[in-house]
Amino acid sequence: MSAVIEEVDRRLMPWRQELGADWDAYRNHVRRVLAFCDELHAISFRAPHTPVPSTTEEFLTAAAFHDLGIWSAGAFDYVPPSVELARQWLREQDRGDLRTLVTEMISDHHKVRRAGPPASPIEVFRRADTMDVSFGLVRFGVTRQRYSAVSKQLPDNGFHRRLVSLTIRRTREHPTSPLPMFKW
Ligand SMILES: [Fe+2]
Repeated sequence: MSAVIEEVDRRLMPWRQELGADWDAYRNHVRRVLAFCDELHAISFRAPHTPVPSTTEEFLTAAAFHDLGIWSAGAFDYVPPSVELARQWLREQDRGDLRTLVTEMISDHHKVRRAGPPASPIEVFRRADTMDVSFGLVRFGVTRQRYSAVSKQLPDNGFHRRLVSLTIRRTREHPTSPLPMFKW
């Protein structure tokens, strides 16, 4: 797990100031999402030989940046700025080959319906984020025990409370489109 922490922090550290008091909350959300990607990968019969998600550039980058636009752009319609941050990182790492995939992973992570075949990175990522945001109510086959083990190791630190307060503010300001980051 320590290599994952290092990789997540390498991507988030430049945004520490912007994250401010939400640093611990967001950092652990990113780490839980990656852990849930690994759990989903472990129970997938379709992708037993592909690398463990949390060891790959595409999952690490999609996870680190997927909600970061909330803080970097101060926007609740945060998917486009989050995509931009991920693309910038990939450019700097000379990994432009992952641009399309990572863009789709971030753009589709709040899709309500399935975003691709169960073992595709886009769908694994969507499922992992859904698991975390739903407090494990939806788990896509991951056991309650495995879910609890991850959330115990990586506590919420107020992440869900933050999402609720952002939603309330957004609803006041934009009553006709309270959740712009969701799509069908
Ligand atoms: Fe998220």
